[in-house]
Amino acid sequence: MELAVLSKDERHRVGESQPLPECYLGVSADELDGRISAAQAALGERLVILGHHYQRDEVFKFADCSGDSFKLAKAAAERSTAEFIVFCGVHFMAESADVLSAPHQKVILPDLAAGCSMADMAAPDELETCWRELEELGVTDVVPVTYMNSAAGIKAFCGREGGVVCTSSNAAATLRWAWARGERILFLPDQHLGRNTAYGMGVPLDAMVVWDPHQPMGGLRLDEVMGAKLILWKGHCSVHTRFSVTQIEQLRRTEPEVRVIVHPECTWDVVQAADASGSTEAIIRQIRESAVGSVWAVGTEIHLVNRLAAQVAPDRLVLTLDGLGCLCSTMFRVSPNHLCWILESLLDGEVHNQVVVPDDQKRWTRVALDRMLSIQ
Ligand code: 13P
Ligand code: SF4
Repeated sequence: MELAVLSKDERHRVGESQPLPECYLGVSADELDGRISAAQAALGERLVILGHHYQRDEVFKFADCSGDSFKLAKAAAERSTAEFIVFCGVHFMAESADVLSAPHQKVILPDLAAGCSMADMAAPDELETCWRELEELGVTDVVPVTYMNSAAGIKAFCGREGGVVCTSSNAAATLRWAWARGERILFLPDQHLGRNTAYGMGVPLDAMVVWDPHQPMGGLRLDEVMGAKLILWKGHCSVHTRFSVTQIEQLRRTEPEVRVIVHPECTWDVVQAADASGSTEAIIRQIRESAVGSVWAVGTEIHLVNRLAAQVAPDRLVLTLDGLGCLCSTMFRVSPNHLCWILESLLDGEVHNQVVVPDDQKRWTRVALDRMLSIQ
């Protein structure tokens, strides 16, 4: 079979990944800073840079708006005048921004290889199989709820089947919304966010089952599925599942005053052993509002923990729960070199690494995201 060779213009149109040109390697940090600032200023109102809290400081400092996934999705929907939305985050966030932004806007992810291993744990064909198998079992009163950390194809499925998207900052309200519409929820891809949220709402653990997409019928018996209020997809975050109860116990011994706060992507036992849990934005808020001199141990990505310690709350003691520091390697892919290249190319009239959700997925993804934004 002959492969179609795309022209440079066509590659840009379809959003194919462009490698970082060699001339952007080995540039000093100071020079990158100056060139990014200059390009940002020259692009002016045509550009908005969105930055997730896990971005490294060298990139994060250029964000016009920073936040958790929910806040950044809202920002993408509201900043309708900018021609370019440069999303310093990961692929599923940029996809959601593309769906929520206006048709004339272009969403760019500086490195298209910045994905999310959790989002990759749920493929649309696996979800179709799961849905069909549930139907074959006679389990039909199910509302699908997907975490923001999922591909547009998964979100589109949820929109089409009467479901919704949630983030870690609105998960409880979203589960409430879904249980008002169906007997059971299929929650994907993060079993931990689903379990932690439902447990916090009073749902017992024995009313939850885990669906393994690699096993026939999810590896479950009919009675197990029928007895469940919540069917949890077997997915997880490889960064947040590294935190452990042992780490919390050790810290409580050395820092008896410590308050432990973790992201709800951590395992259930870690969330139970912690004093609080919440989205990245909620973690920042709680520490910012805490008493001067208080001691915190934080179970989330290391760039946010370091920023909390050095910039947000320098008059509190902020420690990482994991001495080795948990780093999200895909968030880290967005470098200042990439950002500089993307912005300077825009000034030259070239759009690289645009994220474009196909039209057939866009409509239902939009429905699922709009439902999410409407839930209070
Ligand atoms: P937040 O929505 O809390 O920022 O979380 C996003 C994420 O990917 C956490 O791993
Ligand atoms: Fe995905 Fe985990 Fe990284 Fe968040 S921290 S983007 S869930 S891999």
